[in-house]
Amino acid sequence: MLNVSQPTDSKMPKSFLSHLYGMIAVLFLMAMTSFGQELPHSFARPDRVAIKHLHLDLKVDFEAKKLSGSAELSLDRKTDATHVVLDTSGLDIADVTDGKGAKLKWELGKEVAKLGQSLSIGLPAGKSVETKVKIMYSSRPSAEAVQWLSPSQTTDKKQPFLFTQSQAILARTWVPCQDTPAVRMTYSAKIQVPSNLLAVMSASNPQAKNDSGVYEFEMKQPIPSYLLALAVGDLQFKALGPRSGVYAEPSVLKKAAWELGDTERMIEAAETLYGVYQWDRYDVIFLPSSFPFGGMENPRLTFATPTILAGDRSLVALIAHELAHSWSGNLVTNATWNDFWLNEGFTVYFEQRIMEAIYGRPYSEMLAKLTLDGLLEEIKGLKARDTWLKLDLAGRNPDDGMTAIAYDKGYFFLRMLEEEVGREKWDSFLKTYFQKFAFKSMTTESFLTYLDENLKVDVDLKAWVYSSGLPENCPVVETRELANAAKAAAEFLSGKNASAICVQFKTKDWTTHHWNHFLRSFRDGLTTEQMTELDREFKFTQSGNSEITHDWMLHVIGTMYEPGMKKLDSFLTGQGRRKFLQPLYQKLSQSDAGKVIADQIYAKARPGYHAVSRQTIDEILKYGK
Ligand code: BES
Ligand code: ZN
Repeated sequence: MLNVSQPTDSKMPKSFLSHLYGMIAVLFLMAMTSFGQELPHSFARPDRVAIKHLHLDLKVDFEAKKLSGSAELSLDRKTDATHVVLDTSGLDIADVTDGKGAKLKWELGKEVAKLGQSLSIGLPAGKSVETKVKIMYSSRPSAEAVQWLSPSQTTDKKQPFLFTQSQAILARTWVPCQDTPAVRMTYSAKIQVPSNLLAVMSASNPQAKNDSGVYEFEMKQPIPSYLLALAVGDLQFKALGPRSGVYAEPSVLKKAAWELGDTERMIEAAETLYGVYQWDRYDVIFLPSSFPFGGMENPRLTFATPTILAGDRSLVALIAHELAHSWSGNLVTNATWNDFWLNEGFTVYFEQRIMEAIYGRPYSEMLAKLTLDGLLEEIKGLKARDTWLKLDLAGRNPDDGMTAIAYDKGYFFLRMLEEEVGREKWDSFLKTYFQKFAFKSMTTESFLTYLDENLKVDVDLKAWVYSSGLPENCPVVETRELANAAKAAAEFLSGKNASAICVQFKTKDWTTHHWNHFLRSFRDGLTTEQMTELDREFKFTQSGNSEITHDWMLHVIGTMYEPGMKKLDSFLTGQGRRKFLQPLYQKLSQSDAGKVIADQIYAKARPGYHAVSRQTIDEILKYGK
């Protein structure tokens, strides 16, 4: 199906053609041998030497904003491999030895934009089954993965806090490693922190502080480097179920545990769908509000934003999503960031199935509808090539691939396949897929081959994977609930007052998703009178729900609605989730008056944002240019 078709009725003489084919074959082979094994975002050559185990021994120094100590790597090497090549970015390397302490030769390569520097370490000659290298190093305060928060930047404002964000290629800013999802390793760690703080990792975790401030960790299942994670702070633990729990700062813990009350049911629903949970425990940590993402699927310990703590469990699809990654992503992993949809598209699909299992189809279809609308909107602003499922991110920041394409076009592709073959066949196909490729990396091509061999589908797969836009056979989403919310918006626009809308559409019973859809229905903007009327009836400016606040703030900016400006300021300074910041700064920067406000707010807020968010907003506002 995916083979390049051969020309059949060419008018060219045969000898010329075979000559041409021969030349192409030679060029192809040359390319394969010199670059064939090179990876798009890593200096590593795991085909020659691969890390099997990592042992980290680090001290966390809040004053110097440094992690320092050592990383000991156990290597699996080809007999003739003379070097191991690692990825680093901004690490200060002090020394490199073998497992017995004998010095090894090492060299840092020249700095390459976005990728950092290679660290090439000479290996002792001769075949040894296992070789160890130990790198003595420290990270710098500017390490992009790590955010060091002062007490005032935390929720409780008493103790400092630190967290890492390694995906996609930031692990190299705090651990020298083969920073590619094509390599898996087990890891262990010893982390020393100030004794009033607790350390947790994407590994086996302590549930309480000890007096020494030294914590030991173990991750027995092999994982890719982007899942290495550490958080340190004034953390407490509360159990949710027999194998799940939540970590948070003391004042957040109770609210967090209540919001996550359905977690155990989610794990059960997920296991019923696609097989046993392979990571022992499933815990969630709520980070301070500067966390740049909604969630991050660090194995055994999802990192989450506190902006989903709405008080009504309405934003917990995010937990379903990160949990789903325990199969799609953490078990079966995208081989390169060009195959990112294998992680995220599968996860959005799986998240939807968990939500459907627990809250019912009408509920999950509301989520699907918001997803579809967002996807259609986002496609309009993307270059055609960036709307293929198979991305081409070579030479670019893999972050550029974090669009609705991998997530939502990926989701609708899989939903289309489900609808084609029927749920029963599809579910059994997926279950087997996760089993068969557990702890392996997968390319788009190997998935398509597997699909072709195991599920007969009579649809144009290339139209989804290697073509732009959204194909015609994209599934249809049906939601009476949101159709109703859209109707309410239309009637408001045609003059009905807000209190009548409230009564007629029973808006007291609406979920967050109704409100999101309602607010997004006003595409052409609102007048100041309409804003005032809506705010009087529905109190949007006072909303404590981050998703509703975000949508309302877009309108606040659109009309420069004065009573909402203070809230806009506090929303942009009070949290650092990029998904909320980006559209708001973008919208502000579209008018001269808005740009002035944006610059003012950003000057205050920027020091509190994580490097990931800073980078995005710097670009939007041309900060420092
Ligand atoms: N793995 C992603 C976050 C990510 C992707 C970080 C790429 C860095 C590079 C995580 O699972 C995710 O998708 N988070 C979403 C939430 C989700 C409900 C769509 C987010 O943070 O918005
Ligand atoms: Zn995800």
